[in-house]
Amino acid sequence: MLSAVETGPTRSQDTTTDVPLRPAVAALPPYVPGARPAPGEHLWKLSSNENPYGPLPSVVEAIAQAAADANRYPDMYATDLVEALAAHAGVDADQVVVGNGSVAVLAHLLAAVVDAGDEVVYPWRSFEAYPIAVAVAGGRSVQVPVRSDGRLDLPAMAAAVTDRTRVVLVCTPNNPTGPSVRARELEEFVAAVPGDVMVVVDEAYLEFVRDPEAPDAVALFREHPNVVLLRTLSKAYGLAGLRVGYAVAHPRLAAGIRAVSTPFGVSHVAQQAALASLRPQAQAELLARVDALVVERARVQDALAAQGWDLPESQANFVWFPLGERTLECAAQARAAGVLVRPFAGDGIRVSIGEPGANDALLAAAATWLER
Ligand SMILES: Cc1ncc(COP(=O)(O)O)c(C=O)c1O
Repeated sequence: MLSAVETGPTRSQDTTTDVPLRPAVAALPPYVPGARPAPGEHLWKLSSNENPYGPLPSVVEAIAQAAADANRYPDMYATDLVEALAAHAGVDADQVVVGNGSVAVLAHLLAAVVDAGDEVVYPWRSFEAYPIAVAVAGGRSVQVPVRSDGRLDLPAMAAAVTDRTRVVLVCTPNNPTGPSVRARELEEFVAAVPGDVMVVVDEAYLEFVRDPEAPDAVALFREHPNVVLLRTLSKAYGLAGLRVGYAVAHPRLAAGIRAVSTPFGVSHVAQQAALASLRPQAQAELLARVDALVVERARVQDALAAQGWDLPESQANFVWFPLGERTLECAAQARAAGVLVRPFAGDGIRVSIGEPGANDALLAAAATWLER
């Protein structure tokens, strides 16, 4: 059976130490990773929004070569990678900050601007790291409900900004519901938010977006010095296991984020793998894989609509089933049918788009969720 919450090796009843944890830490909601198959278990893993395809041979080669230098610290400033990412995003190198996955960059940018009790506004349900990162930074979460169609309610988020608000997180496409915000509504939103509030546009799934009305966040960043972009090589670039993410921020903010970042946070192996993935030939091959996943997404969405589902329109590499109270039961059913999904108890199930066989298995499982 699928347990509702899979946690690490913690022992909450441990009485062997008197050292208190910070109350904010003791109260943290757990980050629940997507379920993994047990050793020897053959299941489709659609629980973590990963890229189903492994690194390209040229990237594996770069990783192997870099591994030979593991006795040395990495380039702390990730100079070559920062330059490559800046060129990739069309910004300057002093506007790029890398980190150990974009989740680490998020923690660093909150550490750079949030003081005890400051408010951070974000949609909910959204990326489950947000409430944890805000609490760890000492901030106060202000969660604004996502609309019933899975879209962010940007006017409500703008209305939630007070003079205590330091940061607003805009997750687009929204994990786990799937829709992307539209250019116009994001422009209106940024115009409505005071210039001293950081607006973080979390674009973890950017490369999967095909909505012609989706925003050009780099253009928005250029116009608005309070806009920061958050991006990752975990999804489209298939490097989730090596942990490379980055922020695009105006130089003074970028310097502040860098100042609080873990020194040597991105390993040499990760830097070299990312550089190899960004080379033109590799990038073309990786983005062709993204195109294939987008085609699969459309096939899955069409098949689900034909089954009778009316789901939010996903612009990412996952689909969202708002199953409410049936969530855990349906996730267990999927596991029994060979598919690992990501349940959010009482709310819904997020299923990543995988290789065609995995998606077929999901479609079979989803058909059983309709039967009651
Ligand atoms: C919206 C969003 N932002 C950020 C991340 C973090 O990605 P990473 O830390 O692997 O770069 C994720 C990962 O699932 C995500 O869904």
